[in-house]
Amino acid sequence: MKPVDNSTWWSWGLTIFLVVITTAGPVRSQPIDRNSTRFALYCSQYKGMSPEYWSTNLNITFSRLRRQLTINSVPYATARSLLNGDSVWGLASCRGYVSKADCVACFEYAVTQLRDCGFANGAYVFFDDCDIRYENYNFYTQSIIQSNLQCNNQSSNQQQDFKKTADMLLSDLKIVVPRTSNFYAASTRDLASGNATVYAIGQCNLNISQSDCVKCMDSRYTALVSCLPSSLGRSVDRGCFMKYSTTPFFRQDQQTNITPLLQDGDSSKKTAIIGGVLVGGLCFLFVVISFFLWRLVTKNSSSSQLDKSTASTVLLQGPARYSYDDLRKATNNFSNQNRLGGGVFGEVYKGNLKNGDIVAIKKTSMFSTSGKININDELKIICNVHHRHVIRLIGYCSKGPFLFLIHEYMNNGSLDKVLYGDKSRNLSWRQRYEIIYGTARGLAYLHEQYHVTIIHRDIKPSNILLDNELQPKIADFGMIRLLPEDKTHLSTKFPRSLQSAYVAPEYAINGQLSEKVDTYSFGIVVLEIISRKRCHDTKDGESVNQSLLDHAWNLYDSGEHLKLLDDSLDPSEYEAEEAKRMIEIALICTQSLVSSRPTMTEVVTLISDKSQDQMPRGGSVNFS
Ligand SMILES: *[C@@H]1O[C@H](CO)[C@@H](O)[C@H](O)[C@H]1NC(C)=O
Ligand SMILES: *[C@@H]1O[C@H](CO)[C@@H](O)[C@H](O)[C@H]1NC(C)=O
Ligand SMILES: *[C@@H]1O[C@H](CO)[C@@H](O)[C@H](O)[C@H]1NC(C)=O
Ligand SMILES: *[C@@H]1O[C@H](CO)[C@@H](O)[C@H](O)[C@H]1NC(C)=O
Ligand SMILES: *[C@@H]1O[C@H](CO)[C@@H](O)[C@H](O)[C@H]1NC(C)=O
Repeated sequence: MKPVDNSTWWSWGLTIFLVVITTAGPVRSQPIDRNSTRFALYCSQYKGMSPEYWSTNLNITFSRLRRQLTINSVPYATARSLLNGDSVWGLASCRGYVSKADCVACFEYAVTQLRDCGFANGAYVFFDDCDIRYENYNFYTQSIIQSNLQCNNQSSNQQQDFKKTADMLLSDLKIVVPRTSNFYAASTRDLASGNATVYAIGQCNLNISQSDCVKCMDSRYTALVSCLPSSLGRSVDRGCFMKYSTTPFFRQDQQTNITPLLQDGDSSKKTAIIGGVLVGGLCFLFVVISFFLWRLVTKNSSSSQLDKSTASTVLLQGPARYSYDDLRKATNNFSNQNRLGGGVFGEVYKGNLKNGDIVAIKKTSMFSTSGKININDELKIICNVHHRHVIRLIGYCSKGPFLFLIHEYMNNGSLDKVLYGDKSRNLSWRQRYEIIYGTARGLAYLHEQYHVTIIHRDIKPSNILLDNELQPKIADFGMIRLLPEDKTHLSTKFPRSLQSAYVAPEYAINGQLSEKVDTYSFGIVVLEIISRKRCHDTKDGESVNQSLLDHAWNLYDSGEHLKLLDDSLDPSEYEAEEAKRMIEIALICTQSLVSSRPTMTEVVTLISDKSQDQMPRGGSVNFS
């Protein structure tokens, strides 16, 4: 590969904290060829929900990022924009030695490349000088996900000496970087022979925790050492970057004084910070203080990773592992007072972790060791699901025949309880609408936007949890994959009249599985939300055998669907047309012909697009 242009060297550049100034600099003799310093360009194959809003969101995010890069004291920016429920999260970061002008230039070039991704709902591009990424979820704390390593094909001509020197330098950097205030260090080391120098930098994203920075640096180091004695190596992952070269790519005076940081062991960060950087006045102080505060707040949120990523291997981050003892303490020895409920999958307890987090701990008995699934892989898949409407897996613990899954705790409990239970309250139309819309978006994500298709198979009100704002979060997704074969087919275990009222007929009867199984269950849940009647309940005075679904279809056929609505709803707070549409959406979701049910992404569009009129008209829908 082409070594970095020497003129970078001479281009002005101040230490990153000396912000203020920089208006002019020598003209480059030759522009940087960004294409040759590009590592990776990736566009998600999935699109944002609505191209128009997505594109507007993306433009806003890009312009906020650019603006921050021009004013922030560190070459790092995060920005988010939210329109019509579709959110774009963006992150831009330049290496510490890059001048502000070069940083913006790199950003602008990156944006032109990302534009080629069209309406992709996620994309990134990594260059030597900068990284830009955007997604439809908050990815800022991701660190080890997929590592990328590049070594050039020229070896140093003093192999042993070079290997040893470069290894020591990189090893020092991996220790020092997490100890600096800005998660960045640059350093050089001369070969013993004295006739060559190794240049190297390491950098972590500012939004990851210090312990994640340590892990990310560790795996970058391991990757780069495998490059030696190549004269240049660079390695990047989501949370960090490391590079070495025998060709200078930063100036001598841009080096970090790493000696004090190395000596200081794991003691106070104060020393680390004082020794760590070249001070640039008040501005610097301000950054340090904000950094401290931020650090304090986020300190506890780090989770341990089970896996070390290695060069060029795709590895997902795993969930944190907790000890059984911790869980016992958190739940008061799994006391009854802490018990939140139970189900097919086992008991759920409320837990109070040592760090103060309140969590829900699910105790399930482990699968017979059929060996068909790898529990760690499954947990990794589940743990990397990040969506506003899907419950997050925080960690796990296995003890004897039990597997404990630790999830975020939802104050308002399950939809089931809110609709019918002792926590029952009268939901407004708007709240019901939000619950329906959010659940649809969560499912659309699991089906079509996550990199693995996850079919939930057990959508029902007790698996939809509500947060403080009564926003829904889908729980127990992926659980089914962790269960023994004989439990995965619900119809074999439960009388059809009960739980399986949510299960699509083709799945209950023939075990025929597709995403449309969830579409069906979703439709039933929508009917329950708007009618506040259990799907297997009967309406007063109606035939005992009539299910909620049959009832809804009958009303629909006679054009009286509004009669389905919960009596406690105030007719002044909803529009009849909107309520009708919602019922119609539920009905098209529950058609017995699988292929005529919409996908969840289509459902999201149907719900959000008020003008569209694609509803079935009386009698035209195939229904048994
Ligand atoms: C090394 O890389 C250069 C360009 O990057 C290429 O022209 C050359 O053929 C490569 N040499 C080998 C032995 O692969
Ligand atoms: C750089 O790559 C982009 C697309 O990847 C291409 O459009 C552009 O022409 C390339 N530029 C150069 C100078 O090769
Ligand atoms: C976003 O910006 C691009 C490039 O400037 C432009 O082509 C596009 O029309 C913009 N999209 C919207 C919705 O403004
Ligand atoms: C540096 O010194 C080593 C031996 O000490 C020698 O083999 C090598 O050719 C020298 N390299 C240069 C660039 O002078
Ligand atoms: C990410 O880090 C930046 C800079 O430290 C900070 O301003 C921002 O609030 C952080 N974002 C999140 C979501 O933590």
